[in-house]
Amino acid sequence: ARALAAQAQSLDELREILDGYNGCGLKFRATQLVFADGNPQAEIMLIGEAPGGEEDRIGRPFVGRSGQLLDRMLKAIGLDRTRVYIANTVPWRPPGNRAPTPEEMALCLPFLNRQVELVAPRIILSLGGPATKTVFNTDIGILKMRGKWAEVTLGNHKAMGLATLHPAYLLRTPSAKQQAWRDLLTLQARMEEMGIVGGA
Ligand code: URA
Repeated sequence: ARALAAQAQSLDELREILDGYNGCGLKFRATQLVFADGNPQAEIMLIGEAPGGEEDRIGRPFVGRSGQLLDRMLKAIGLDRTRVYIANTVPWRPPGNRAPTPEEMALCLPFLNRQVELVAPRIILSLGGPATKTVFNTDIGILKMRGKWAEVTLGNHKAMGLATLHPAYLLRTPSAKQQAWRDLLTLQARMEEMGIVGGA
């Protein structure tokens, strides 16, 4: 997978290579590849867990209920999909929306790493536990990891990483929205420091 991913010189090439890759069993139970959404030139990249039902049907990440919440969260700090790039730890829907296994995430990681290299974001926001484990290369749980900056390395690209709670978790646990809101303000402050502009 690493050698295949390394061949991609552009995101379009990477998408094509991934579409033809048969090494991860998730592909065979999914409707289609869910590669990315947003702006490939963005300075901020969001990494979620895995496509759900709507994403699998439409072929874009975060288009279901948690995506709608994600859009509202972004809007609250002046962002939208023209200013961020969005991908997932695995690009195919796990059957029945179960969490991707560590093996599945490991199999897809070379492609995610290459995707990060090609987008080269300055900030990476990981959404929820599995994405945070992948992005920060840690076994520490999301509730301990969230809200704190750390330099992260994916492939050969270094960025500032921040973890926050997954929108699907926030839908189930509205009381946790306060924590996510603090994380968003942390992100916004850093964007200002780095000269990354949000929207109106
Ligand atoms: N949840 C995710 O983690 N990713 C998606 O794309 C949709 C829902």
